[in-house]
Amino acid sequence: MTQIGVFDSGYGGLTILREMRKRLPQYDYLYLGDNARAPYGTRSFDVVLDFTRQAVEELFSRGCRLVILACNTASAKALRTIQQTLLPEKYPDRRVLGVIRPTAEIIGSITKNRHIGVLATPGTIQSGSYTMEIKKLYPDIHVNELACPMFVPLVENEEATGPGADYFVSKYINMIMEKDPDIDTLILACTHYPLLFPKIRKFASEKTKVIAQGDLVANSLADYLNRHPEIENRCSKNGTVEFLTTENTEKFNHLASIFMKEPVDATRIML
Ligand code: DGL
Repeated sequence: MTQIGVFDSGYGGLTILREMRKRLPQYDYLYLGDNARAPYGTRSFDVVLDFTRQAVEELFSRGCRLVILACNTASAKALRTIQQTLLPEKYPDRRVLGVIRPTAEIIGSITKNRHIGVLATPGTIQSGSYTMEIKKLYPDIHVNELACPMFVPLVENEEATGPGADYFVSKYINMIMEKDPDIDTLILACTHYPLLFPKIRKFASEKTKVIAQGDLVANSLADYLNRHPEIENRCSKNGTVEFLTTENTEKFNHLASIFMKEPVDATRIML
């Protein structure tokens, strides 16, 4: 069985996996959450690269030929090095894709007035990846980015829908709108943030579109598999999903079931 590997530092990538399974239910998926070492968002470049490389090699060792980094922080800090050095040197017939490029590609057709805001972890923001990728494709778009360091802890601690989340959500929305009051599109550039979607919707103005990445990454994967039959042919198609975590499985299963909106039964591994 050749599963499609899906990696995240923790739970966030499940919001991407859920949409992939909706859009491409025929494939087999192997999800790996490095929950024991999450969050990655506040870690240095080298550490995120090391951890992500270990996770990718683990998924390769379990037979995956295609791995999706369903984590913006890992995509921002590790994807390029993995694609440019690890793959050509050790795994020339395997592929690793991220979530930033597909998001940047679609944004040009969503914003009307060419003013967008990017909400993400401190690591993703420090990397400047979103501004760089968007400007490459659409030099006319004004990009404002904001680090939201409290969002991931709110989600990880099951406070995303509680009244406590209101304070930080309204604070960050106000901060980014102060940077550029003309923003018509806000990108949730962290795979954890869709769990805060109702709160973000509540505090963003009605005129502002709020974009989560799940369905657009799933569409981009569908497009990639269409264009790469040599990869697609090797993906097994039994419609299964398997979960791996580096943390205690009881804790993972509980929160992962909330993300997936279905029961999850994970296996614990060490990286
Ligand atoms: N899911 C990660 C992302 O998309 C954020 C979580 C973390 O900080 O580890 O950036």
